[in-house]
Amino acid sequence: MARLLITGGAGFIGSHTCVVLLEAGHDLVVLDDFSNSSPVALERVQELAGRSLELVRGDLRDPVLLEQVFASADAAGAPIEAVIHFAGLKAVGESVAQPLRYWDVNVAGSRALLSTMDAHGCRTLVFSSSATLYGYPETVPIPETAPVQPINPYGHTKASVERMLADLAASAPDAWRIACLRYFNPVGAHPSGRIGEDPNGIPNNLFPFVSQVAIGRRQRLSVFGGDWPTPDGSGVRDYIHVMDLAEGHRAALDALLGDRPQLLTLNLGSGVGASVLEVVRAFEAASGRAVPYEVVDRRPGDAAITVADPSLAAERLGWRTQRSLADMCRDGWAWQSANPQGYQGAS
Ligand SMILES: NC(=O)c1ccc[n+]([C@@H]2O[C@H](COP(=O)([O-])OP(=O)(O)OC[C@H]3O[C@@H](n4cnc5c(N)ncnc54)[C@H](O)[C@@H]3O)[C@@H](O)[C@H]2O)c1
Repeated sequence: MARLLITGGAGFIGSHTCVVLLEAGHDLVVLDDFSNSSPVALERVQELAGRSLELVRGDLRDPVLLEQVFASADAAGAPIEAVIHFAGLKAVGESVAQPLRYWDVNVAGSRALLSTMDAHGCRTLVFSSSATLYGYPETVPIPETAPVQPINPYGHTKASVERMLADLAASAPDAWRIACLRYFNPVGAHPSGRIGEDPNGIPNNLFPFVSQVAIGRRQRLSVFGGDWPTPDGSGVRDYIHVMDLAEGHRAALDALLGDRPQLLTLNLGSGVGASVLEVVRAFEAASGRAVPYEVVDRRPGDAAITVADPSLAAERLGWRTQRSLADMCRDGWAWQSANPQGYQGAS
């Protein structure tokens, strides 16, 4: 078992992955500034896994702090063997309004992390990339060989970090073990309902919005476009249960640590599309609540259908999704109904 640094481990995907990695026996150091998460998530992660982790509260972009994290692990005789790098900003609209902030946290933050890893001989990394970098896909299902052509600053920052990682891997191909995981649409929650997605303000993504409508925090869902070239006219996305995604990280880490140094670039998705209206119906069935909606104009920047070709991840990691849309809704509702205000006010 390895000692791992998890940046952004208190966030939505990070917290679920921490549970899976603790259960697999790894020792974890979590670095998070809680700019988009709550320390309560990490308390619950430890409660679910029945094991503790080490927390370092701070900013990824702080080179002094990063040096301390790696140096103190070295000094304790338990060096960091690998990093799973979730910390970053992820809201497309915000990235259009505040591009420098996105380049700073996502790109400069990753560069600071990589420099410190290199200085300490830690050269195994799993990076949170995104299907956003495919822009308007020309082929669906989307293979990893599809052109990288992001259409917003957030996507540009993810593509730039992937570029930086490819350059780094090429500079020392016998040293670096890197997996760029291109997530599709992570949703749902741990089946216990103890941890889940807790967005600040108005959710940008469909699933948390739908669940907040179901619980009564929001009046109705706006469905952006009812005239897409899809079976019911609403947009189609590839939703992936966050526990499947968490298990994908464990599989990627195992593949990196157990094989020769290499750069892996993999889609993590289900390969199955669901429309907005299908999600609404599935959520209504899981929650027993109505989800009122109205169809409004299309949003600029949306594509009709985005679905992964997940076959390379199956081949290289022996991993594929196990959970259905009904499971995503059931577990998402378990989280939302037990935590109507998210982690706010929770103990
Ligand atoms: N959720 C998605 O739909 C999705 C899809 C594709 C890719 N991703 C990527 O996956 C990663 C995790 O996403 P998430 O949904 O869990 O997001 P999240 O916001 O819930 O988690 C990110 C975590 O990073 C922390 N963080 C942010 N800036 C930091 C900094 N400067 N220093 C230290 N910690 C910092 C936040 O406090 C938070 O805990 C992100 O890099 C995101 O871009 C997410």
